[in-house]
Amino acid sequence: MDGGVRWDFAGKVALVTGAGRGIGQAIAEGFARAGAAVAAADLDGARAEAVAADLRRQGLRARGYPVDVADRGAVLDLMERVVPDLQGLDILVNNAGIYPNAPVLDMEEAEWDRVLATNLKGPFLMSQAAARLMVARRTEGAIVNIASTAARSARIGAAHYCASKAGLVMFTRVLAMELAPHRIRVVGVAPGLIRTREDFAPGPYVEAALRMIPMQRLGTPADIASAVMFVASGAAGYVTGETVFVEGGLLSGRPLPRNT
Ligand SMILES: NC(=O)c1ccc[n+]([C@@H]2O[C@H](COP(=O)([O-])OP(=O)(O)OC[C@H]3O[C@@H](n4cnc5c(N)ncnc54)[C@H](O)[C@@H]3O)[C@@H](O)[C@H]2O)c1
Repeated sequence: MDGGVRWDFAGKVALVTGAGRGIGQAIAEGFARAGAAVAAADLDGARAEAVAADLRRQGLRARGYPVDVADRGAVLDLMERVVPDLQGLDILVNNAGIYPNAPVLDMEEAEWDRVLATNLKGPFLMSQAAARLMVARRTEGAIVNIASTAARSARIGAAHYCASKAGLVMFTRVLAMELAPHRIRVVGVAPGLIRTREDFAPGPYVEAALRMIPMQRLGTPADIASAVMFVASGAAGYVTGETVFVEGGLLSGRPLPRNT
């Protein structure tokens, strides 16, 4: 159950990147609880395996895999293992992402490259490999890209991150058009501010952010997982190319008090 909805992904195989913690872990757990066989992949292979082992202890189907989504060889190795291990691939969630901070005046070229490689090239490599498999196997699949409100709303110190997520939103649209004839949908989910850990941001930052969120609460990893399951499910069978913003109203407008 999630938000009152009982999702059913029995017989489906879902691959989630960045599943070792945070939002990716919640997405992996959501699919496993809904009956899918889950491949939990992460740069930190031990953490991915720990998440999968925990799901297996609950009687669910999951396996952990190491992967660097920015490395084409590692991505191809992952696909070669997941498909025989779990007997197919129906859903890919490109969740792995990094968000360091640096103003452009001080930013190292290597940091720019690392963010773009993980957040934008990674989803390209993963989607290409997954879609080739889905097309070859005639799978009616779904690819879900985890973007961010940073795709639309600029954030100081995050030029690389904002550019990577804006790029991912457009990549989602193009890939959706190219894969539609193959009956593969491609959808984005853009989280707002999500409390993945108690210490995920300094207190004053959180207080200031809360004043900008009409729903007056931070999001939870489960909020994102349920949106991902909705867009991956048959309930969203005519949705493709779009990115769903899951942000408590953060981007709806400017939270200025009314002038009297
Ligand atoms: N937390 C938020 O408030 C928030 C808001 C908007 C968008 N997002 C997006 O959601 C996604 C998950 O964020 P999170 O807060 O859970 O992050 P997190 O840092 O808690 O977890 C990210 C996971 O991705 C893994 N990872 C990093 N680089 C990788 C790579 N090259 N290959 C494979 N795995 C890699 C990390 O090891 C980690 O386990 C990211 O794409 C992020 O940009 C998060």
